[in-house]
Amino acid sequence: MRMSYFDDYLTRTGLPTLTRWQHYFDIFDRELSGHRDAPVSFLEIGVFKGGSLPMWRDFFHEDSSLTFVDIDEACRKLQIDGTTVEIGHQADPAFVAQLARTHGPFDIVIDDGSHINHHQIASFELFWPHMRDGSLYIVEDCHTSYWPGFGGGYRNEASFIEYAKRLIDKMHSWYTDQDKLFGFSELARQIGSIRFYDSVVVIEKQLKTGRPTTLTFENGKVALSEKALDIRGRQSVFKGRDGA
Ligand SMILES: C[S@@+](CC[C@H](N)C(=O)[O-])C[C@H]1O[C@@H](n2cnc3c(N)ncnc32)[C@H](O)[C@@H]1O
Repeated sequence: MRMSYFDDYLTRTGLPTLTRWQHYFDIFDRELSGHRDAPVSFLEIGVFKGGSLPMWRDFFHEDSSLTFVDIDEACRKLQIDGTTVEIGHQADPAFVAQLARTHGPFDIVIDDGSHINHHQIASFELFWPHMRDGSLYIVEDCHTSYWPGFGGGYRNEASFIEYAKRLIDKMHSWYTDQDKLFGFSELARQIGSIRFYDSVVVIEKQLKTGRPTTLTFENGKVALSEKALDIRGRQSVFKGRDGA
């Protein structure tokens, strides 16, 4: 069986300063292993005791730009070679704009900061324009979406999980059949996928130059068409035979 970088990370390094849920390491392996071979611009919100700084530095390509953000001034001294620690509030527009000017655009952003729902949403909206094509925006500890004390609560519209569910709708807004109720969102041109894990949401940026097209093969030629998107009031072509 293949060993991942993270499998024996703690026993291998003896680092006592890392704070992470165990099952996140499988998620990191799945999501990030394909981003190790070339330099990346990486940013993590949340330093705490600094345990993730050497973990990410040794995981990514040595020419990567690695930025770590925390609200706590004491974290500044946890900076190590090959990393930069910046101090500020994750949901402060001026601070994030400054981070983007200095360290962006980003290939990977991980939000392991306050886990307060409206901070998670604000940070996503502030960082998203500074994410590169093909980049990943990762939000950890989304179980706080179910905790009223963090601004969440079951089906609370203000929670990050509910916000992320609405992003699913926006990603699909090309296909609306109800223009007044559900109009086109520009995010449809920008989101390639949204992956929900236990407590972790990954949003992949994938810039699309055109609308989704259908492919047909006719008279020996492949034809592309956007026509399908303009149809309204469609019904199944199997109507009457589909058991509905
Ligand atoms: C869960 S810890 C980070 C753990 C760290 N990533 C690790 O792997 O060991 C959360 C950190 O977020 C910081 N934090 C809390 N609120 C914040 C905010 N509004 N902006 C930036 N950082 C914040 C806290 O000071 C704390 O150090």
